[in-house]
Amino acid sequence: MLTWYMSIPAKMDERRKVIEYFQKNSVFIQSEAVDFIVEQGQCLRNAKKVLDCYDEKPLNILLDDVQEILDGRQIAEVKPKPMKAPVTSGSHIEIIEDVTGNSCCEGSMYDFATLFKDRYERLYNLLHRRQEMKNVVLLKNARQREGEISVIGMVSGINRSKNGRVLVDIEDESDTATVYIPEEKMGVAASLVEDEVIGITGKSGRGGLLIAESIIRPDIPVNKKKQTASGEGYVAFLSDVHIGSKTFLQEEWQHFVRWVSGKAGNERQRKVAQGIKYLILPGDIVEGIGIYPHQEEDLLIEDIYGQYEALAREFQSLPDHITVIMQPGNHDAVRLALPQPAFENDVRDIFSDVNALFIGNPCYLSVEGVEMLVYHGQSLFDFSTRLGIDQNRPTDIMKIMLQCRHLAPVYGDVTPLAPERKDYMVIDRVPDIFVTGHVHTTALDRYRGVLLINASTWQAQTEYQKMMNFVPDPAKVPIVNLQNGHASLMDFGR
Ligand SMILES: [Fe+2]
Repeated sequence: MLTWYMSIPAKMDERRKVIEYFQKNSVFIQSEAVDFIVEQGQCLRNAKKVLDCYDEKPLNILLDDVQEILDGRQIAEVKPKPMKAPVTSGSHIEIIEDVTGNSCCEGSMYDFATLFKDRYERLYNLLHRRQEMKNVVLLKNARQREGEISVIGMVSGINRSKNGRVLVDIEDESDTATVYIPEEKMGVAASLVEDEVIGITGKSGRGGLLIAESIIRPDIPVNKKKQTASGEGYVAFLSDVHIGSKTFLQEEWQHFVRWVSGKAGNERQRKVAQGIKYLILPGDIVEGIGIYPHQEEDLLIEDIYGQYEALAREFQSLPDHITVIMQPGNHDAVRLALPQPAFENDVRDIFSDVNALFIGNPCYLSVEGVEMLVYHGQSLFDFSTRLGIDQNRPTDIMKIMLQCRHLAPVYGDVTPLAPERKDYMVIDRVPDIFVTGHVHTTALDRYRGVLLINASTWQAQTEYQKMMNFVPDPAKVPIVNLQNGHASLMDFGR
């Protein structure tokens, strides 16, 4: 059983000092966590170090949190048991979280209810750690309370008026409520989307309305500590290859293959190429078939297995020390609904001569100790259209995903969600690298220490994109040095 300290007289002087320090900061700390801090020596310095790791003061601190911080690792709120990677020949990859082999949905109403319950509970736990949420109450009790209240709810509706005020409907397991957000308190409310989970501080108003003082998203900690590999090595990201399409950029692709095989580039570029140990392909690795009306007119290879075979041939000339990590997207031969499991054996067998690892979408994996969240990015369009954010700025949307701690909150939009009993789209870990594709552009950015990448494409502008007035940014390769976390970009365009 856990024991919480706020004002228990300490037997030892150091323990008393540590407890008093957290007490002064209105933070509960687990008994075992106090012991751990004392064991490390320099107890007040370490207590401060622990608290400094949080963006907002947490409500309570556990032994696991303290161990991770003082061991020099980042806060990870949920730590699922790592799975064994299926293929890791000569490489150091650990699959941390992936639906592959774990899918258990049948599509019943019960499954959907379980999915949303899981989402709510996991995001509630992230929000509940925040200092502002320490007096959180159920919605059924919120209306009767006087003075400031805190509630946590899932957004079920958003009404934005022309005069800039917003009414947000929320629900928890006990009740529903409508929250009035005055214009001057808008903040993050301007980018709220349905089905995300938020915290609200405010007061009860007339007619059962809650009047918001602030809207709080789960978000990620401010000072993410960078995890790096102990040895030299690079990872390159190649999204949306779309081989099999008439608009696949064969010449630019060949230029890349020559470079990564050490046959092109200046001295410095060849040295980087020699150090590339991993290629990560975040989805749409082939053009696919039957994805949109009249797609057959745009196909160079009409058989989907023929498209995978063409890609496998391209990879045959890669140096043996490179591991290719392949994830499906919405053009690939797996189910459309998220989360998508990795390719089945009929596709895997095609790559039997390639040092390949197949992952689901999304997937958390650790590459030589560097944690990555790899996600094709289907929901980027949903955020873009709902919030009016240009899809050419995917990292702006990826920041909102991290703030929501969810990759695809909106149910019923373009992005289909499978009713798994666990919500794999919840961002329950803070990665070092968060990579997406899907929007066929190239972007590098950072948010609170997380490297954000949108990994280009190898497809020229399609007729559909012309019609939509979208200009892709193809044939660019983001490359990350695993030893120091630095990112750069290689351009293989003509
Ligand atoms: Fe694509």
